[in-house]
Amino acid sequence: MNLYYVLLISLFLSSCRAADPLGNFCNQNTNISSSSRVSVNIDGVLAEVVSKTALTGYVTTSSGKGSDKVYGLAQCRGDVSSKDCSSCIQDAAKEIRQRCPNQADARIWYDYCFLRYSQDDFVGKVDTSFGIFYFNVENVSDPQSFNKELGALMDTIRSEAVVPKNEGLGKGKTGLSPFVTLYALVQCTRDLSQIDCAQCLAIAVGNFPNFCDNRKGCRVLYSSCYVRYELYPFFFPLDSNTGTSVGQTKVIVRF
Ligand SMILES: *[C@@H]1O[C@H](CO)[C@@H](O)[C@H](O)[C@H]1NC(C)=O
Ligand SMILES: *[C@@H]1O[C@H](CO)[C@@H](O)[C@H](O)[C@H]1NC(C)=O
Repeated sequence: MNLYYVLLISLFLSSCRAADPLGNFCNQNTNISSSSRVSVNIDGVLAEVVSKTALTGYVTTSSGKGSDKVYGLAQCRGDVSSKDCSSCIQDAAKEIRQRCPNQADARIWYDYCFLRYSQDDFVGKVDTSFGIFYFNVENVSDPQSFNKELGALMDTIRSEAVVPKNEGLGKGKTGLSPFVTLYALVQCTRDLSQIDCAQCLAIAVGNFPNFCDNRKGCRVLYSSCYVRYELYPFFFPLDSNTGTSVGQTKVIVRF
């Protein structure tokens, strides 16, 4: 692991409102003024993604031309209803402008959706330059067998995600004991080719030893893919809760 800014924040999931993003990135090298053409084009991109993302769960768009052109991408997690998708994207569009009011390259992550825009045409390119890692502070009691089961489940759902009809989504579960079930989900943004999706997921899972080692739950959030596992149900259709507590979560942001 190279040297990065590492920011550690303690969080309690119970204190998170639905509208709270998991994180955001405002590229400080892309400062713009709020009266610029670029800013108007960002509003154009946001209007488009708010009106269209929930139809299919995914949209790419652009607004303006020449040196003021802005590209946008929005995507909901593939298991999320169009109603939840729509409200997540509406929150994202509002929140990203508040958090990054003067940046042309901005990104925001929620569990149910992701939104970004930039003057660079990023569509179709793998981007793991900025990552957010959430992990449960509790550790599993039997790391060896846990990691074996986790690895096997990740392999299965990663190969699902790159099947074209699955549109970048893979999810599944494994019983670890009669009382404990491991749930996992991976998703690539839909602009990626199969090989690029596989690469993004490999980088995310390759970071498990750094950020998720033996943790009861972990999430890796990149601009091109999302990876999560937990010992409780978190994706739709929801399993009835087996009673495992969610526990305290911490976050690391890596530039
Ligand atoms: C962009 O603006 C922020 C404050 O909003 C400032 O901290 C940062 O240094 C600026 N970046 C550049 C490259 O000027
Ligand atoms: C889990 O393991 C990590 C690293 O091995 C350790 O720093 C941490 O204190 C452990 N957490 C708990 C709740 O025991």
